[in-house]
Amino acid sequence: AEVVIVENRNVGGALVADEIVRLIDTVPEPVLGLATGSTPLPVYDALRTRLAGRDLSHVRGFALDEYVGIDPAHPQSYRSVITREVIEPLGLDPKLIRVPDGAIETIQHAGDDYDAAIVAAGGIDLQLLGIGTDGHIGFNEPGSSFASTTRIKTLTEQTRQDNARFFDSVHDVPQHCITQGLGTILRARHLVMLAFGEGKAHAVAAAVEGPVSAMVPGSAVQLHPHVTVVVDEEAASQLK
Ligand code: F6R
Repeated sequence: AEVVIVENRNVGGALVADEIVRLIDTVPEPVLGLATGSTPLPVYDALRTRLAGRDLSHVRGFALDEYVGIDPAHPQSYRSVITREVIEPLGLDPKLIRVPDGAIETIQHAGDDYDAAIVAAGGIDLQLLGIGTDGHIGFNEPGSSFASTTRIKTLTEQTRQDNARFFDSVHDVPQHCITQGLGTILRARHLVMLAFGEGKAHAVAAAVEGPVSAMVPGSAVQLHPHVTVVVDEEAASQLK
């Protein structure tokens, strides 16, 4: 992987936003892989000014994951988050931006449907990734198969605690999610992993320089030929 150490998260966001603009300028039907959580927010912020006033009616997107059993209208469903933080501020076409469907009734085939939709769109050109403190990417928790496709997973206690800040309490964080698999993520043409802050230092070092292991799902990036890792000094602090 190419590791880029940036001064702060805004510089990192600007760098990745420039790469996304380049993609939109050069690929006729660009397909973005979107992430939620705190990490990609500086990217979306930087994109807002760069893409203002542009026709983006040809841009497609696929989010990494969604909670299972959450009302899509709940403010913390990833459908709501992607609408609020990406679709509306950037002016993307909501019909072209997909989020995995976490409805219980359709969960059996939702994963296969999602992967088929990604293939039908021509595959993801650039996939944004954050990393969990437990090493997850998407919501592929430790133990996930590198060949996995989009499917239901159980969130670890660590992840539920990390995400409790978005809910009233940790008890309100759903137990299950539907996430792009590691195999799904590895099929994207360019992986861009971002991490900021001391709390991510261990996970970043384990993913980028540790042994490739299902116990560190982020280490799957070592199997991909085109990976860019954008980190601040703090998140880079345990790299050799
Ligand atoms: C989000 C996702 C997760 C987050 C990770 C880090 O769609 O798939 O892997 O990227 O949990 O979360 P933040 O960025 O909130 O620290």
